[in-house]
Amino acid sequence: MTPILRTVADLRTLVRGWKAAGEMIGVVPTMGALHDGHLSLARRARGECDRVITTIFVNPRQFNNPEDLKRYPRSEAADATLLASVPVDAIFAPEPEEVYPEGFSTNVSVSGVSEPLEGKMRPGHFDGVATVVSKLFGMTLADRGYFGQKDWQQLQVVQKLVRDLNLAVTIVGCETIREPDGLAMSSRNVRLSAEARGRAPVFFAAISAAARDIRAGQSDRMAIREAAEAMRAAGFERVEYIELRDAESLLPSDDSSRPRRMLAAAWLGGVRLIDNIPV
Ligand code: PAJ
Repeated sequence: MTPILRTVADLRTLVRGWKAAGEMIGVVPTMGALHDGHLSLARRARGECDRVITTIFVNPRQFNNPEDLKRYPRSEAADATLLASVPVDAIFAPEPEEVYPEGFSTNVSVSGVSEPLEGKMRPGHFDGVATVVSKLFGMTLADRGYFGQKDWQQLQVVQKLVRDLNLAVTIVGCETIREPDGLAMSSRNVRLSAEARGRAPVFFAAISAAARDIRAGQSDRMAIREAAEAMRAAGFERVEYIELRDAESLLPSDDSSRPRRMLAAAWLGGVRLIDNIPV
């Protein structure tokens, strides 16, 4: 079975040996409850690095809703079994006190790209992400960090963090893995009732149709309005946002010569879902 490390000291002992041997280290940060989306990151890292560390840490600082933190699914034993199939070289799964000991007082905040969309809906969320990701890079001494496009804004925040702080880690953004019906895999999908799960594919279908229509020359506003209507008609109780943005800065963009991204968040059966696609 894959070794599970709980302390930074143990992790560092392992990693220093690898570094001394000139090995290249990849890290796949996760909050556990692993699915094929996470595993695709680990497999990519396996193919590109000598050593792969998956971190499993439900980071309290990035939850703006204590109820969401409490209900976040945890399944370490099953996660370890899945990771053994990749395989990875180590699992780093610290307790909150190991990551945030008494007296911890640093906050990493990436302005600009953290602010709109998820940043607006979940105040403080990206500070929590940027802080823990900075720490995980420092703890693992990784050369490469693997992140999913599923969380597109998070990926942009991490890229900016690494550039701004000259961190010696290369960020690799990996394709979103979807269920056969198009629903993006997410640890939160298990919270959907069977009924809601049946309606959930409308999310990806609606934003895909909007992206297609925009590429075909339809007005952004009209395409987005139609997508939101299709979702509401399918029983989504709330469409928080559907936005067309510059893919990197996440500022509003009507410049179709630059890469753009459609990003969306919506509630279905009491579960908050996010997704995004290139336009
Ligand atoms: P978590 O939600 O567990 O996701 C871990 C990584 O898996 C993220 O980079 C996420 O984008 C990626 N991922 C999730 N679903 C995916 C899918 N369907 N296809 C491809 N990749 C997918 O994101 C976090 O954890 C945390 O914010 C973290 C970065 C670990 C910091 O705490």
